[in-house]
Amino acid sequence: MDFALCASRLDALLLRYQACWQFNAYSGAAAPHLGDHSALTDYLQTLSHTDIPYLQGDDHALLHALKPYFSPAAELIELIGLAPICPNLHPQEPPAGIPGRKWQQINAFLAAQAAMHRPVLEWCSGKSYLGEAIHRRYQLPITALEIDTQLVAAGNARAQGSTPLRQIIRCDVLSDDVHQQLSPTQHLVALHACGGLHQRLLSLAVEHSGPQLSLAPCCYHRFTENYEPLSRQLKASTLRISNHDLRSAVRQTNTARSGETQARRTLQAWHLGLRELLPQLGIAKTTPLPSLPQHWSKRSFGEFAQALLDKKNINITLPTELANAEQAGWQQLHRAEAIDLVRMAFRRALELRCVLDSLLFLQENGYQCTLSEFCSPTLSPRNLLIQAQKSPYT
Ligand SMILES: C[S@@+](CC[C@H](N)C(=O)[O-])C[C@H]1O[C@@H](n2cnc3c(N)ncnc32)[C@H](O)[C@@H]1O
Repeated sequence: MDFALCASRLDALLLRYQACWQFNAYSGAAAPHLGDHSALTDYLQTLSHTDIPYLQGDDHALLHALKPYFSPAAELIELIGLAPICPNLHPQEPPAGIPGRKWQQINAFLAAQAAMHRPVLEWCSGKSYLGEAIHRRYQLPITALEIDTQLVAAGNARAQGSTPLRQIIRCDVLSDDVHQQLSPTQHLVALHACGGLHQRLLSLAVEHSGPQLSLAPCCYHRFTENYEPLSRQLKASTLRISNHDLRSAVRQTNTARSGETQARRTLQAWHLGLRELLPQLGIAKTTPLPSLPQHWSKRSFGEFAQALLDKKNINITLPTELANAEQAGWQQLHRAEAIDLVRMAFRRALELRCVLDSLLFLQENGYQCTLSEFCSPTLSPRNLLIQAQKSPYT
């Protein structure tokens, strides 16, 4: 894959269709970006209650479904199409205490690597389950860095007595203390290290001439003010992507429990239902409304609506007959979810742009890099794997 070319094509596409991926379909506002796409609008209106969750959960299925009605879909399919590694792994019982899904991710992450032979430095390790798996498989010394003291203690309890040495060190990877943990002999590994934390890993890998790196990034919006590119190529781009955009890009529900999804949808429908009701109460439909915690979904629409108005200091008693407004809310939610598919069509592209930035930065600093999908998106939607090796000639 030509990372530079792919990044520049993605950049151009994202710039051109900015209005599509920045639109908040749940705001209740009209969707002006669909004005020029009447075939797409008609298609979205045909989608059923079962079509939408299916398309929300599968980027490729979504793009293929939109392709006949939405011209950028074809280029998006081409640009986000990576060779998935997704090896056929026999499900293995996780060691005691390691959640099954995490263990499957770890096994897929390791199966995607060539044999490991260097001492390992694990970044933002949690209890260092990944380090534990590497240690079992390759008997390598492992140092893991983690900021949370409880996770450090729990991880070290698991690692007690390991030979060669396996240890979790309490360390803030954003602080200067981290420098003393790095050496030019290590294989740097990180599974699901968030935005600013993995950008720090990349900068320090370059600074300390780390010979090898394997990184599965996640949550690009976290631990940064706004995601600032590291690579010269994307620093020069005029496209700026806010943390808000990135947060929406990685908010995927295909690993959420169905109860959580249902609770979130109920609150969204009620929000929209209340919005429909506002003009009847003499209040502008666009009035900003606060949000309420998820447990409110177990109450009634009336209680929810009254609590929101109280929170907003709007002193109005709601009518007793609210069934129509609630029903209108569910209809609006269906419409909003259909329109939001257009934003979702760009979410992998936004993620890929961040990952390409990391790859370009590494290449600019003398690394040979590969990019792959190490597990299926149903096991983890954050399934991109960057592998980099310092070129011996730099
Ligand atoms: C998404 S979790 C991933 C944990 C583990 N790698 C895994 O896959 O299960 C991110 C981890 O980063 C740790 N973390 C957050 N900020 C950190 C910092 N400044 N320095 C070191 N670790 C940090 C968190 O405590 C958390 O354990």
